[in-house]
Amino acid sequence: MVYQANPARYESMEYRRCGRSGLKLPAISLGLWHNFGDSTLLDNSRQLLYRAFDSGITHLDLANNYGPPPGSAEENFGRILREDFLPYRDELIISSKAGYTMWDGPYGDWGSRKYLISSLDQSLKRMGLEYVDIFYHHRPDPETPLEETMRALDTVVRQGKALYVGVSNYPAELAAQAIDILNDLGTPCLIHQPRYSMFERWVEGGLLNVLQEKGVGSIAFSPLAGGQLTDRYLDGIPADSRAASGSKFLNADQLTEEKLEKVRKLNAIAQRRGQKLSQMALAWVLRGDKVTSVLIGASKTSQIDDAVGMLANRHFTAEELAEIEAILV
Ligand SMILES: NC(=O)c1ccc[n+]([C@@H]2O[C@H](COP(=O)([O-])OP(=O)(O)OC[C@H]3O[C@@H](n4cnc5c(N)ncnc54)[C@H](OP(=O)(O)O)[C@@H]3O)[C@@H](O)[C@H]2O)c1
Repeated sequence: MVYQANPARYESMEYRRCGRSGLKLPAISLGLWHNFGDSTLLDNSRQLLYRAFDSGITHLDLANNYGPPPGSAEENFGRILREDFLPYRDELIISSKAGYTMWDGPYGDWGSRKYLISSLDQSLKRMGLEYVDIFYHHRPDPETPLEETMRALDTVVRQGKALYVGVSNYPAELAAQAIDILNDLGTPCLIHQPRYSMFERWVEGGLLNVLQEKGVGSIAFSPLAGGQLTDRYLDGIPADSRAASGSKFLNADQLTEEKLEKVRKLNAIAQRRGQKLSQMALAWVLRGDKVTSVLIGASKTSQIDDAVGMLANRHFTAEELAEIEAILV
């Protein structure tokens, strides 16, 4: 059956300007880090993409190393794109990244010009694309001169292989330097992708202000702390959850009683607000005007529905914010 996108897909999503650029991103974006590799069912990945796009989620985030195995998320996405989404290519913002270990030897990691440009070529082949909309340097490289890495980003835009560029996981001061270099090169930095959730608040210590001052957008990854800021773990660890999957990024040891106590208290506030904890956690990241989009992951289409349902109730009273703050400290 040929996929036909929901004609009402643009009616309920909110699109927010990304920094001082011409690009708007959906308030909710979908990441393909988990649930798109070869170890998951292609049909589930396909259903997730259908549901996301049908809900107005136009931005899909990938990286060279997403899988497992590394590269397989881009390959599987490329297949679904070819089979179902090509008529919608111009309605999609597709991103990829390079910066973590991708292949053996000294040229498959970090931030050299050699690595970034060849990695993007490989990503484009895997996805069957002529260009990505956003290409990121995935993490700072302490050894490569920042100028070299930023020049590589500038080059891929001039080559037409990326429309925009961004950085991820850069601390505030380094981000400011990278943004300035890119401005000097004539390829403005579109966006920064940091980790940000109720449980991970380092960006509040300066990065978000730098981005706002410099007119750069931000997309917060893991806004649900990988599922911890949901009702998923309130009654133990479900067999189909990330924490039970053997993930090195979320395991039972991280779900301490202290953390679960906070989750229970936050859940009670969310219930009072008439929403799920996952929805409150996303609305909280979007509060104020410093974050352009929340970058969620999903293993089930109902999780995408939950996220989109958040848009109906994004407002917090000063009392609610203070109550949440008291739980998080
Ligand atoms: N730049 C970087 O360095 C970097 C690093 C990490 C991630 N990212 C990006 O950020 C994206 C999102 O990361 P993430 O997956 O960690 O985000 P997340 O939104 O914090 O966690 C997503 C997980 O939470 C659970 N979940 C989601 N909605 C739920 C709901 N309504 N109820 C219960 N559980 C729910 C699901 O886990 P279950 O499997 O348990 O269902 C889901 O896979 C990635 O795909 C990637 O694109 C970037």
